[in-house]
Amino acid sequence: MNNFNLYVPTRVLFGQGQIASLAKQVPAGSRVLVTYGGGSVLRNGVMEQVRQALGDRLAVEFGGIEPNPDYATLMRAIATGREHGVDFVLAVGGGSVADGSKFIAAGLHYEGDPWELLTGKGKVKSAVPLGVVLTLAATGSEMNSGAVVSRRETGDKLFFASEKVFPRFAVLDPSTLFSLPERQTGNGVVDAFVHTIEQYLTYPANAKVQDRMAEGLLLTLIEEGPKLLANPSDYDARANVMWAATMALNGYLGAGVPQDWSTHMLGHEITAVHGLDHAQTLAIVLPAMLAARREPKRAKLLQYAERVWGLTEGTEDSRIDAAIDATRAFFERMGVPTRLSGHGIREPKLDAILAKLEAHGMTKLGEHGDVTLEVSRAVLESAV
Ligand code: NZQ
Ligand code: ZN
Repeated sequence: MNNFNLYVPTRVLFGQGQIASLAKQVPAGSRVLVTYGGGSVLRNGVMEQVRQALGDRLAVEFGGIEPNPDYATLMRAIATGREHGVDFVLAVGGGSVADGSKFIAAGLHYEGDPWELLTGKGKVKSAVPLGVVLTLAATGSEMNSGAVVSRRETGDKLFFASEKVFPRFAVLDPSTLFSLPERQTGNGVVDAFVHTIEQYLTYPANAKVQDRMAEGLLLTLIEEGPKLLANPSDYDARANVMWAATMALNGYLGAGVPQDWSTHMLGHEITAVHGLDHAQTLAIVLPAMLAARREPKRAKLLQYAERVWGLTEGTEDSRIDAAIDATRAFFERMGVPTRLSGHGIREPKLDAILAKLEAHGMTKLGEHGDVTLEVSRAVLESAV
């Protein structure tokens, strides 16, 4: 296991009824910018609970943060926050609202164009404190320091991370998930699954705790995910998947181990070019990526086959094939297609995707830095 520094300052408030604890978590007298998406939280009663818990604090509501939050929208939120002199940001929604709110929190304190935080030209020196009420279990954004922001006008989707934007708290009430459409429920399970894989399925690092935590999360998602489609109001299944998704990307799994993230980097470019949901891209790229990189990943693929899918019979190669097939079948079972053609894309814009990868410096991806543009092209070609 490699050395690591792990700092996770987010307080987790988990369980039914926890939105009420905002009354204590948001400092009294705060001027709060309450951010949300396209309106699901207005329809499912979540915003009403937030308003009650905030009581007589000044709360300026800013809605309209879209999936894959757009820079232009977030810049309007920053202007609104400045106009009202807000000193706390409360994100109420899924990963897009959480990520967008991290950008807003940092942007409120940033003097230049906050886009520089995404291109690497600028650094977050401070941010307005932020809290999250999560309504979609998927990204792990509620307990990590990262955020992904899109810029539709240029076709970019970029990532930044800073300790300054760790949420102070994350309210995880599994009953807020009951209203999720099937597509988002499936997306969430796939995203959490792939986050786990990106930090687990690399090469052996003798990190027993991280490996077994990862296998525990994968097994939980495989066991509980389908229950959500069968019964969207199954509280226990929602609770298990919600906690698995948070644990999959709050820093613990990836501490001290090699990490891959190539599936995510290709996925982000596919979203930017073709507009697919984040998790839809992952379900397409991951099986193709594992197949293309079976040699460098051989030892871990065999461990994954045995411990997660119970595959112990046959040759090594047949077990690896079966594990990749099982992964694909699981995503399909969650209602998420595993080929571009499953979304009607028979001729993907490969040149555009590869040009963006190159422009963003994504030319040596993966745990060995051996996922070149040629490898990425081959992976994408095999994913049609
Ligand atoms: O906008 P509203 O009306 O709220 O509807 C949303 C949206 O249409 C809906 N939704 C959310 N909660 C709901 C609900 N509908 C009914 N009931 C509820 N309880 O779901 C739709 C999708 O929401 P979104 O927030 O976009 O989904 P997700 O949580 O999957 O977030 C995706 C974004 O997170 C980024 C992705 O790239 C993408 O931009 N990621 C962030 C990461 C991070 N910060 O660590 C890591 C991830 O790998 C990922 O890249
Ligand atoms: Zn993801």
